Amino acid sequence: MAKEFDVAVIGAGAAGMMCAATAGKRGKRVVLLDHADKLAEKIRISGGGRCNFTNINAGPANFLSENPHFAKSALSRFTPHDFLAMVKKHRIGFHEKHKGQLFCDDSAEQIIQMLKDECSDGNVHWRMPAKVDALQQNGAGYILQTDEGEEIHAASIVVATGGLSIPKIGATDFGYRIAKQFGLELVEPRPALVPLTFDTEEWAPFVPLSGVSLEVDVETGSLKGRNPSGARFREDLLFTHRGLSGPAILQISSFWQPGTPITINLLPEMDLAQTLIEGKGTLKKQLGNLLSQWLPSRLAEGLLQVQGLDPEARIADMKDDTLRKLGRAVNQWTITPNGSEGYRKAEVTRGGVDTRELFQQSMECKNVPGLYFIGEAVDVTGWLGGYNFQWAWASGVAAGLAI
Ligand code: FDA
Repeated sequence: MAKEFDVAVIGAGAAGMMCAATAGKRGKRVVLLDHADKLAEKIRISGGGRCNFTNINAGPANFLSENPHFAKSALSRFTPHDFLAMVKKHRIGFHEKHKGQLFCDDSAEQIIQMLKDECSDGNVHWRMPAKVDALQQNGAGYILQTDEGEEIHAASIVVATGGLSIPKIGATDFGYRIAKQFGLELVEPRPALVPLTFDTEEWAPFVPLSGVSLEVDVETGSLKGRNPSGARFREDLLFTHRGLSGPAILQISSFWQPGTPITINLLPEMDLAQTLIEGKGTLKKQLGNLLSQWLPSRLAEGLLQVQGLDPEARIADMKDDTLRKLGRAVNQWTITPNGSEGYRKAEVTRGGVDTRELFQQSMECKNVPGLYFIGEAVDVTGWLGGYNFQWAWASGVAAGLAI
């Protein structure tokens, strides 16, 4: 006998659990399905195991989407303070780390347990592990078939299956396939918040710098020196064997367009060329020692080597033009990635179900009544720093209240 529910939520991640709990507590009969063996693995590994569960400053400006206004409604109706109230109600200790990012004091497991408890309060039924093999419209509702051979009837369906990042812990293209099945437009998915890679030959001189880390300014660039996306971040950069990583690069990777350069200011507090030219009479040290005062010494050595400059040279003996060229290499390092580390390493997927297909108050499809998309499956992508979970909670609540 088929089981009847008001709503079936597919995907028991951040958005799915929040939605199921919200709808359940309103008295809806909810079933939550997930194909993974282990619950909410992305929450578990997030924030280095401590889950950066929101950002106290989160607002629509911290998200990328083809329609930047779409997220406003859900974000304003369930704010970081609302999530924090839930965290406090469950007596989970937390702290602010950096730029409004809130983390658990102890473990991300506490957030998973909190969401499970909220689902219990809403009498949510679980099917896990259970994969949805097929979804069909059935009059005004839907029929789901699971790989366990169960048939579930539901008046509404919420697709909360996330994006493509980290396939080894269960990411699938299920959400996009369902969107296509119902004729919805997709914004092309791409890895985001991801390390960037460079051509092996071009990168060879920087390989010895692997492990060097420093605070930089980074922006998307163009060869004409413009910043086409307008995005700019001051964060830490990390040199790796294959390219660049660290928060600065993860942030800019979401804005980066393949084939275009990025521009990095390795010494954002100083105009290097001006300092060196003006200091010719007073800065007595050798060039290598001088640069090492301001930059990590391995980086200073590497940069001089790439520029073909002698670290023992005295700046008083150097041409202004040479110092200007060195200044540009430090303050305006423009370099073109050949790609990224891809979904294997990306924290999120940008793109997804086109927001023009959805009502912003409810996340319901405009042309497919009773079908909802929430969380990362939708074309709303947050910056690094707790914003993506805030979108998962807010969009989950929006659908959970509307169903
Ligand atoms: P999510 O991916 O959480 O859940 C989708 C669920 O659907 C999964 O449980 C999956 O098993 C299930 N599913 C998929 N296909 C299915 C199918 N066919 N049938 C049934 N179930 C299916 N964000 C942030 O704000 N702060 C942070 O600290 C971090 N840290 C972080 C670290 C790492 C390593 C990663 C990879 C990501 C982050 N993020 C983050 C991003 C954050 O984890 C992400 O944006 C949210 O988990 C998205 O929530 P969703 O519920 O939309 O998808």
